[in-house]
Amino acid sequence: MRRPEILFDDSLHAVHLTNGVISYIIQVVDGRYLVHRYFGPALRRWHGGGQPVYFKRGYNTCHEECSVPNVSFDDFPFEYPARSRGDFRIPAVEAEADGVRHTQLDFVSWRALEEKPALEGLPAAFAAPGESATLEITLSDPAAGLTVRLYYTLFAGLGIVARHQVAENTGSRPLTLHNLQSASLELPALPWEMLILYGTHAKEANGQRFPLHHGIQRIESVRGSSSPQHQPFFALLSPDVTADRGLAVGFHLVYSGNFLAQAELDQFGMVRAQIGLHPEGFAWQLMPGERFTSPEAILNCTTGGLNGLRQNFHQLYLHHLMPPRFAEAERPILLNSWESMYYDVTLSKIERQAELARQLGVELFVLDDGWFRKGNSSRDSMGDWRCNLRKLPGGIPAAARIVHGKGMKFGLWFEPEAVTADSDLFRQHPDWVLQTPGYSMTQGRHEYLLDLSRPEVVDYLFDVLDGYLQKSGIDYIKWDMNRPLTDFCSLAPGARQGETAHRYVLGLYRLLERITTAYPRLLIEGCSSGGARFDPGMLYYVAQNWTSDNTDGHDRLAIQAGYSLLYPPVAMGAHVSITPNHQTGRVTPLDTRWQAARLFNLGYELDLTLLTPEELADLAGQIAQRKAERRWVQSSRFFTLDLPGPYTGWAAVARDGSRCLVQVFQTRYDPLFAHTPVRLSFLDRDGLYRDAASGQLYGGDELATLGLTAPLIKQDDAATVWELIREPG
Ligand code: DGJ
Repeated sequence: MRRPEILFDDSLHAVHLTNGVISYIIQVVDGRYLVHRYFGPALRRWHGGGQPVYFKRGYNTCHEECSVPNVSFDDFPFEYPARSRGDFRIPAVEAEADGVRHTQLDFVSWRALEEKPALEGLPAAFAAPGESATLEITLSDPAAGLTVRLYYTLFAGLGIVARHQVAENTGSRPLTLHNLQSASLELPALPWEMLILYGTHAKEANGQRFPLHHGIQRIESVRGSSSPQHQPFFALLSPDVTADRGLAVGFHLVYSGNFLAQAELDQFGMVRAQIGLHPEGFAWQLMPGERFTSPEAILNCTTGGLNGLRQNFHQLYLHHLMPPRFAEAERPILLNSWESMYYDVTLSKIERQAELARQLGVELFVLDDGWFRKGNSSRDSMGDWRCNLRKLPGGIPAAARIVHGKGMKFGLWFEPEAVTADSDLFRQHPDWVLQTPGYSMTQGRHEYLLDLSRPEVVDYLFDVLDGYLQKSGIDYIKWDMNRPLTDFCSLAPGARQGETAHRYVLGLYRLLERITTAYPRLLIEGCSSGGARFDPGMLYYVAQNWTSDNTDGHDRLAIQAGYSLLYPPVAMGAHVSITPNHQTGRVTPLDTRWQAARLFNLGYELDLTLLTPEELADLAGQIAQRKAERRWVQSSRFFTLDLPGPYTGWAAVARDGSRCLVQVFQTRYDPLFAHTPVRLSFLDRDGLYRDAASGQLYGGDELATLGLTAPLIKQDDAATVWELIREPG
């Protein structure tokens, strides 16, 4: 695999970043203007091609001394644009000094860095020596006293550029930073389409694709976390993009708070795309000598369509973002107590469920919400984290002993960031809660949120979790968070409220950093009412995420397919639950519920005592099957299939190409469709594959062009599964 390189060209005043997969090219014009030249499939060398030729037109502005004939700054492809000199498109940076918001960054220098820099206080992609190359560019605005350093990292073998910026007050006056986008990218005039993943609680990650219109299209979160409403992601696609072909550029933010992601189609059909911290309400004070680091943005470029984007994101997140000790480790098959007990947890229920789970081969029992509550609702006790000994005599250690005694690991649910009014913590420290003096506090699920911008709150939460982890036999934590942030106001002395939302996220990261450093073997599952904070920032600390509170096997097909554009399936919790489903009331065959979870991070979330002996035997079979195939499935490459009408599906291909599991789901019985072809373009065209069930042989080229055939089945939510084994030779 070719090592990434940073190639400086002094005669062109250009730098070319390439790893043989993609190229990224930047040029300095007139010794001061940093302009973007190219981001796309790799070029061998840049000789200066593709330079714009400007037409002299009216109603525009530029510097008198600029040497580019007829240029207007409103049409100049600034690599990191500010608004102040006549570029009226979306700006990437804005700073204020003495009430003046004029920012104008000029080139100072650039250099290549051997190591991928870490981001202070923020999660970010990492790389072993030799696996990456980083470019640092320094820009400066001497009048404002602002220096901004831009960072670009390329990784071996991936169509990925990771970007972030560091702003520094290099002047003598205080500065206020109002905007510092993690990435800004100029794209050529093409009929681009935008793809976003939008949703709501219990129906996350729905893809929507639409042509760009003139002006700005944006998605965002102002909910304090990344939110189920929008992934901090979008992609720009050429209109011919399919599952397997076409030019696509993706943007994803390694951050868990307010974000803005936008694309502007300008007067000449060019596009500027950005992703970063949301500037709304953001005002970060920088005293002379102080620095501010933006979160990291992941830029993904492929000509392989949506599955091309998918492979780049998955490989990056598996090998350069999630905790390395879990990337390859086999994830335990779990039973979660929530949908069987809700808040009403007792030792005898735990004993009964755990015993059945043991017989089935489950490996981890997770005690969800309820264990610390005075009652059986969300009204009380949040924040105190004392086990209710009437529910669980002997406390958490007693519950852990029961589970461990059956040879399983024990997991426990926490929601560290929340507090209810009815709690000792709130009575003792009302000022530890986010709230705006003079206004009534907003609650969600009877909860307020602790002010994680305060170091003493982070210390308190660390001590609580540390206390349990030291003594109670906990092997796994489910880290929940069940409401958006409101009342972005800290009562900490001297707090600057334009910083509170971001400082909350930094406090959360500090807490996670401390826990994961102190307990490196602890498996943490992130959760925020399901997918409300499923983002790359959290994935850096927690190796898996509860994908959605919607456990309906039918709905999960779309939710998991949506998220799979970004996250490897092993990062997504997928549980087989009871039918009719508790969220939707839908009845779905047990086999389909299992098939929908089979290639993901498998768990169960249902009352095992309600199952018939036949159903229990089916579960035991699924679990045995999972154990047999877990190693290759977990590390496989995952592809979605382009299928018509009621069909949806995906496939996992073993990393060494030796086998492939294809699943096609017919979500409703529809006689308008029949014998639908299932084309597998991601297999080796020269290979020969045997269908494990029928023994039928197929060539890889045959599977790519003619495909397998999905039959019409007289039933809703039916699953058809093939396992293909590659013949030797
Ligand atoms: C929301 C989670 O997504 C559920 O799985 C469950 O843990 C509840 N919270 C518990 O309150």
